[in-house]
Amino acid sequence: MDVILQIQQLREELEKHNYNYYVLSTPTITDREFDEKMHLLERLEKENPECYDPTSPTQRVGSDLTKEFRQVAHRYPMLSLANTYSEGEVRDWYERIRKTIEGPFEVVCELKFDGTSISLYYEKGVLTRAVTRGDGVMGDDVTANVRTIKSVPLKLWGNYPDSVEFRGEILMPWAVFDALNLERERQEEPLFANPRNAASGSIKQLNPAVVAERKLDAYIYYVLGESLPSTLHSEVLHYAREWGMKTSEHVKVCHSVEEIMEYISYWDKQRKLLPVATDGIVLKVNDERQQRILGMTAKSPRWAIAYKFQAESACTRLNEVTYQVGRTGAVTPVANLDPVQLSGTIVKRASLHNADIIEALDLHIGDMVFVEKGGEIIPKITGVDKEARFLLGDKVSFPQKCPECGVALVRYEGEAAHYCPNETSCPPQQKGKIEHFVSRKAMRIEGLGTETIALLFQNGLLRNIADVYDLKVPDLARLEGLGLKSAYKIKESCEASKEVPFERVLFALGIRFVGETTAKKIAYAIHDIDSLIQASYEQLIAIDEVGERIARSIMLHFSQAENLEIIERLRKYGLQMKMEEDKITPQSTILQGKSIVISGTFSLHSRDEYKEMIEKNGGKNLASVSAKTDFILAGENMGRAKLEKARKLGVHIINEQEFLEMLQ
Ligand code: IVH
Repeated sequence: MDVILQIQQLREELEKHNYNYYVLSTPTITDREFDEKMHLLERLEKENPECYDPTSPTQRVGSDLTKEFRQVAHRYPMLSLANTYSEGEVRDWYERIRKTIEGPFEVVCELKFDGTSISLYYEKGVLTRAVTRGDGVMGDDVTANVRTIKSVPLKLWGNYPDSVEFRGEILMPWAVFDALNLERERQEEPLFANPRNAASGSIKQLNPAVVAERKLDAYIYYVLGESLPSTLHSEVLHYAREWGMKTSEHVKVCHSVEEIMEYISYWDKQRKLLPVATDGIVLKVNDERQQRILGMTAKSPRWAIAYKFQAESACTRLNEVTYQVGRTGAVTPVANLDPVQLSGTIVKRASLHNADIIEALDLHIGDMVFVEKGGEIIPKITGVDKEARFLLGDKVSFPQKCPECGVALVRYEGEAAHYCPNETSCPPQQKGKIEHFVSRKAMRIEGLGTETIALLFQNGLLRNIADVYDLKVPDLARLEGLGLKSAYKIKESCEASKEVPFERVLFALGIRFVGETTAKKIAYAIHDIDSLIQASYEQLIAIDEVGERIARSIMLHFSQAENLEIIERLRKYGLQMKMEEDKITPQSTILQGKSIVISGTFSLHSRDEYKEMIEKNGGKNLASVSAKTDFILAGENMGRAKLEKARKLGVHIINEQEFLEMLQ
């Protein structure tokens, strides 16, 4: 078959399957078949670069990192809706419409999705721009990120208008949210309070590859354009679905206020079963001509209103505040409560987040507190019933010293959390570091679960991560509930872990803020542990995804004698302390020993590609110009400060053409 035709057919087929899977939720082929087709298309496109098409299903994740988002004006302002929590006000709204319209009218009831709003522009059926709400007039251009959302078609189908704008909500499904938070908890990264924050945080990520991992979803609830096929909102939504957009299946056209009330009370309960978060119901007059008669107030259309569900809350007694110390030493206050029923579960504990929040609530032991579980999985305390305070218990104040080891707590600038700085001998930190070290994504040592680690720790057999390789079979076998077989298994697994590649060893070390992806980026940029220990601040922040905070944390880690000792021991035991040769494969040594700074924007390759070329040819990427810089690879619009500094220091500047010639 003609390869161009084959590519074309595969693209169409894959788009159809994407639609079936992400919009209709009814896949017609297996994931495996889908992946096979996708791989085939990727291969054919690679072999035939002249067939490049930005709307191909292979092109959802671009490679370039954005420094910031471009601000763009909305074609039509993004308005908000009048809100109410009262059914009475919904009836009043309906009455006003009835009086103004003086004739039959329909109201469309929809779920109010609780995510972050987005506007999607399609020109000639192609997604050209995705803009956040911003201030309603201007928003951020987040097109590259939105392209990673599988339920947003890159191309429309059928008989779509030439130019059309869709408004909708970007959401993080509950299941994705729970998994993400679980992972963040394990990594001791701050948790997202609810799927809304997670969705808006994700869509503002500078790296589309990270956005793609977040598995966002998008529902369309409003369509704007000059030549829409119907004046009825409900019908336009149907068309939108036919063109490939994802719309809600729970839209209902109502003809009386009673029907609306039924819809509200039904969804107040049923919404808990939905895969995404909702916080109310939106009511819209169906016919656009009637919408125009009703018009607008200064802020919002009169033809629509949002009814918001009550966030569920309960009142209960605060018995005690305990403080948990995590793997990185972060101290989290936890409120211990009289058990209380809330949104179908019994709540006994709630997060108090940090010292500032405790202070702001003016908490005392014995207080009656309000607990809420709005969109959040972790219930939180939202207030104190001061009227119910007749016996004043002790004021809750954040401890000055670590509740586990007694060392004075510290608070880093700009951070809300308190930390115990005693990384090497604070028991929960020691145990946490070992748990992290042996975990699946790190060294993957089996048989060492939380309880076994605690037991070994208690018996003085484990103090730090290097001790793991010193464990002896007889010692292990003697432990309660372990036995000889398990002991051998642990030892075997320890042996096998010596083959774990360097990037995972680096992650396993548990350097604060160095997560899985960061570890990988560092390993690819700086190929072995010794160079990393010696690396300068400059060298570190030049690595993709490494900023000031991470660079400082790495330097701090390697400045501590205990940590260096541990690394020496790990090296002796045979762990991988450098990247495998075939992963580094320098193409040449042309840039050996050269320190290079990249600045400006480029047209022939992306910045990341240039960074990679420098590394592959033996050079070093640095973030800022100094006397040690050998040359600057400058694109367009090079920063003025850099330019002046370069001139002052007499640093050579070359353009991309010259650079590429140099590598020839
Ligand atoms: S209609 C003029 N419909 O709620 C029509 N909005 O203030 C404007 N939202 O942040 C919006 N679900 O992002 C509409 N089914 C729905 C909605 C919805 C969620 C959000 C929207 C905006 C807020 C309205």
